[in-house]
Amino acid sequence: MGPFITFEGPEGSGKSTHIRLLAEQLRARGREVLVTREPGGTPLCEAIRGLLQHDTADESPTPRAEALLFFASRAQLVETTIRPALRRGVWVLCDRYADSTFAYQGHGRGFPLDALQAINAFATGALVPDLTLLLDIDAAASRQRLAARQAAASGGDRFERESDAFHDRLRRGFLDLATREPARFRIVESGRAIASVAEDVWSAVATRFAAALDGG
Ligand code: TMP
Repeated sequence: MGPFITFEGPEGSGKSTHIRLLAEQLRARGREVLVTREPGGTPLCEAIRGLLQHDTADESPTPRAEALLFFASRAQLVETTIRPALRRGVWVLCDRYADSTFAYQGHGRGFPLDALQAINAFATGALVPDLTLLLDIDAAASRQRLAARQAAASGGDRFERESDAFHDRLRRGFLDLATREPARFRIVESGRAIASVAEDVWSAVATRFAAALDGG
């Protein structure tokens, strides 16, 4: 099985930049890498992403329906894309995964974590990442990056428009998840220069997968 690495963190934490940089590092070392994201990553999952982010059905999902749409996207992505790649020995890097549901729908929306964990185990067949990089950024810096993004685009998605209190709960939620599973998580402080953050991401990956990166 290839290594399965997920990136988590609030909006504006730099996940997509650092996933791209890590993929480049791994490819430069001759590793086959699949970069994917949640929700999304297959045509069906991208359609679900559209429904979730932009109310394209002209009807907002209720919080429960919203949670189940995230799980539906995850179930499809895991079975059609992530598991087959891991079986071929490919390194899979995923921009968000189950911890986003626990943080946003659990800590953010207030659904009980044990219920979300049970549905998640059903959706994924209990596929857990080998390493989760939590890009942590304080609420003020995250807000600043979001404001810049919203000014450049269409006013933000459903979660970008949530209150400061929601975003504070979210950040604390991610940190709490990391504290509960220290063996799987590495927290990387993301409000710094891109090169320093990338260095820490690489060092976490090189340490965790020293054996797999040895040779070749
Ligand atoms: P992003 O990946 O571009 O940041 O956007 C995905 C949005 O969906 C983001 O606001 C986080 C949210 N989300 C959840 O609320 N629950 C989930 O399980 C996932 C994967 C994402």
